[in-house]
Amino acid sequence: MTTRRRFTLTQYLIEQRRRFPGASGDFNALLLDVALACKAIARSVAQGELGNVLSHVDQEVATAVNVQGEEQKRLDVISNAYFTEMTEWGGHLAGMASEEMDQPYQIPAPHQRGKYLLVFDPLDGSSNLDVNVTVGSIFSILRAPQDAIDSGRDVVEADFLQPGTQQLAAGYALYGPTTMLVLTVGNGVAGFTLDPNLGQFMLTHPDIQVPQETQEFAINASNSRFWEAPIKRYVDECLAGRTGPRGKDFNMRWIASMVAEAHRILMRGGVFMYPKDTKDPAKAGRLRLLYEANPVGMLIEQAGGRASTGREPVLQALPTTLHQRIGLVFGSKSEVERIERYHREP
Ligand code: AHG
Ligand code: MN
Ligand code: MN
Ligand code: MN
Repeated sequence: MTTRRRFTLTQYLIEQRRRFPGASGDFNALLLDVALACKAIARSVAQGELGNVLSHVDQEVATAVNVQGEEQKRLDVISNAYFTEMTEWGGHLAGMASEEMDQPYQIPAPHQRGKYLLVFDPLDGSSNLDVNVTVGSIFSILRAPQDAIDSGRDVVEADFLQPGTQQLAAGYALYGPTTMLVLTVGNGVAGFTLDPNLGQFMLTHPDIQVPQETQEFAINASNSRFWEAPIKRYVDECLAGRTGPRGKDFNMRWIASMVAEAHRILMRGGVFMYPKDTKDPAKAGRLRLLYEANPVGMLIEQAGGRASTGREPVLQALPTTLHQRIGLVFGSKSEVERIERYHREP
């Protein structure tokens, strides 16, 4: 048997940094802290029900309702704490925001404040925890406004309201049969698999590309009566199969962990839709712009796919609030463009 020499995440980041000769290394250090948080979350997730018995942390954490009115699972809260605790000390962050925190998180003294903002969904798909189905963490890194960097002042909501095009890095960790980290620092997408013996993320999927040809779509069909006409049309045409206007049969998948659907699409193509619908007129969609749609959108676009609100590129949407929701369609470029075209046609 021949052994293959593989890059670690650290080596990958050092290679990427060579593109910016003046870079301090802060950015890489921050990403490695995020990766450590993800490894800790992977460990907690893997404990499952055993964790509830054995971990004192679990017993101390009370569940509550988060700002979006969802019941927080213990692991939502624990994962959030891993993110804050493992990244706040390094001096790289001006502040953070998360699905599980109503307000921006301030870097506490005595830690130094830095130039980046970290935005995250600590556990995506957490309704799947009880049934032992893949979940993940999603994160995005932005640059803090210059006055916040210069003064070290507290961060405010407005500091985070940057369009997805401004993201410096985005990624997710996937807690499935293997733990993976999928990352973009703006130069393509790379996938790493956690080697549990080494405790290291190893580069296993360099340069991930969304396959362009697809016959697979993902949507929660129980919402079909609330869909707008362009989405109804797209799905109907897929369902019509070989004898319909698309001239081929389509397969359907719905995991209810967006991060796992994003991973499937990065690996084998397809299209994911959680569009704006008429279910709750107060909401513009289901998924959250800053810590779900934008990071996944950046990854998909960096992998040659397309991410959209259904009407325009999601990365161009101007956020108005920290926890705002948005319609999201992403995947193989030609399919997403078709859905956008259906939205333009009368
Ligand atoms: P979260 O667990 O972080 O709150 O996000 C859940 C999201 C997303 O992962 C998934 O695609 C979607 O909710 C599932 O929604 P449905 O229950 O409507 O299928
Ligand atoms: Mn949630
Ligand atoms: Mn989520
Ligand atoms: Mn979540």
